[in-house]
Parts: sequence; C-alpha cells; structure tokens
Amino acid sequence: MDHLELQNGDAMPTLGLGTWKSAPGEVGAAVKAAISLGYRHIDCAAIYANEAEIGQALADCFAAGIVTRDQLWITSKLWNDSHAPEHVMPALDKTLADLRLDYLDAYLIHWPVCIAHGLLYPRQPSDLIRLEELPIAATWTGLERCVDAGKCRHIGVSNFSVSKLAGLLDECERKPAINQVELHPYLQQDGLVEFCAANGVHVTGYSPLGSLDRPAALKQDDEPILLRDPGIAEIAARVGATPAQVLLAWGLARGTSVIPKSVNPARLAENLAAVQVALSDDDIQVIAKLDRGRRYVDGEYWASVGGPYTAAGIWS
Ligand code: A2P
Repeated sequence: MDHLELQNGDAMPTLGLGTWKSAPGEVGAAVKAAISLGYRHIDCAAIYANEAEIGQALADCFAAGIVTRDQLWITSKLWNDSHAPEHVMPALDKTLADLRLDYLDAYLIHWPVCIAHGLLYPRQPSDLIRLEELPIAATWTGLERCVDAGKCRHIGVSNFSVSKLAGLLDECERKPAINQVELHPYLQQDGLVEFCAANGVHVTGYSPLGSLDRPAALKQDDEPILLRDPGIAEIAARVGATPAQVLLAWGLARGTSVIPKSVNPARLAENLAAVQVALSDDDIQVIAKLDRGRRYVDGEYWASVGGPYTAAGIWS
C-alpha cells in the first residue's frame, strides 16, 4: 500500500522524505531529486533550519510542471518556543512563507516540551517551561485555529507517549490525526502503535534507518547500528532487497508511514523502491525479536541543562 487514508478521506503517501539533518546547500537538490523520482510526501520542521531552501525547491518543481501542490503531502512542526496559543499561527505563517505554500497537509507539535519564546534551544533551566504552566491542550487550541483558518488540513503531535496522547484526546475538540515518533526494529513501540490504531491516530515513524548521521552530542560510542544488523541483512539477502529497504518495508507492513532521510540520489531511489518489497509473516516474526527498546533520539537533551524535564518524564 503506498497511500493510506486519514479520517477525512485525505490520502497520505506512506513513504516520505525526511529532511532532518539535510544540510543547507544539499536539501533543495535532495527534495527536487526526490520529487522527480516520485516522492510525494516531504517531512519538514522549522527547527531543521532548511525550510526556505525546501520552499525554493518546491517552487522550482511547480514551475517546471513536475508536480502540482495538490499532489504533494507536506508536513511541518511547531517548535517548542511557540506553544503559547497566540504564538502558534505566527509560527505556522513563518513556515508557510519559508516553504512558499498556502497550506500544510499536516502541522504537528514537535515535542511535549516547552521553552521560552524566541529560543531555539534552552541555555539554562529557567528557559524551560513546565507543561503544567503551558499545557498541551492550550497549544492545541492554537493548532485548531490554524485548521479553521485553512492553513493546515491536519494537526497532530510528535514524540507523544500513550499517556500524553490520551491526555490530549480527552481534552481536545479536534482529534490529533498523526503521532510522529521514532520507530524501527530496535524500538518497535507496539503498545503505542496499538493505542494509536485504536484511537484513529495515524503513526509516522521517524529515524526508520537508525539515524546514523545525527549530531555527535546525541550519539553513544557503543550504540548498535541498525543498518548493520545481521538479522536484517539475512532477510535482505533472502528477499533480494537492501537492509534499508527491509527496514522501510517493515514499517510499511505495520501500517505506519516512514520518512527516511537521504540527500543521495541513489539512496533516495533505493528507499522509494521499498514500497515494492514484500516481507513474509516469518520475516516479520524474526524482526519482532530484534526489539530492544533502543531510542536513538532519547530525549536526554531536554534534561541536560537542568529544569523540569527528564527523558523518563517525556516518554512516560
Ligand atoms: P544520506 O543522506 O547520505 O543518504 P534516518 O532516516 O534514520 O534518519 O537515517 C538517515 C541516515 O541514513 C543518513 O545518514 C543517510 O545518509 C542514511 N541513508 C539513507 N538512505 C540510506 C540507504 N538506503 N542505505 C544506507 N544509508 C542510508
């Protein structure tokens, strides 16, 4: 299945292009190459600091007649400094201006973490604001207004645990359409995926390839490398696919969407072709055993300057 249907009938292409870590000077070419290859879903965020270059690439693709706006699914994310309801729409307006779009297909709360307005990252404990002070439900009303204003078609969240999502579901008018979380064979999160399915929330898996290029500060020396897992390699050899394709096909087989990042045209093509890779039930059962609860994006960063957040609290 290369599309899935959301609650209002909109179709989301299940394999999208991730743009976290795609550097300025590279991301525009990657987006153009991806769209030319057939990608129709681009995952963005204000904090990736590359939306203006993506916007130029999208405009070039539209002008060249390669694709039309309505053929694309574009997601972006509200940064942690703009959770106050009055800051949400201005943040979306900036993203829309950078991306040169009139609307997004999805706008997500990037993290259940709140920092002082105007900051990219906290420098001291007092830069972090407790969710008790600025609740997610208040931020959500700001997102709902963006839908009412026609500036985004769907709203959702990212990095939300079952309990945080349940809290929001209890309080909100308009249900979150999407929860975007880290998902791969080393972090399968079955409970979260099942909870989302039961509540009509679509799950998008980020870092589906294990995010090997993330900043050194977010890495550990001895971390397991997902793309080199022998069990994945064995399945890849058997089904005639690459390890990356097996990882992506596994995410698609679970009914989640996947957003692998690449700036390399050959790997962009390889990843897109994963929609044609079929895994057997036996393969899925072998992969189920690889789960080790391993987060590559572990949330420790938000605790590192001190203040009210802990990684355990974020994921609880
Ligand atoms: P590159 O951008 O040079 O292709 P994730 O999506 O989990 O964050 O992983 C992104 C990392 O995986 C990047 O380092 C990216 O490098 C690399 N990558 C993307 N596609 C493939 C692939 N098919 N095989 C191997 N590495 C890949």
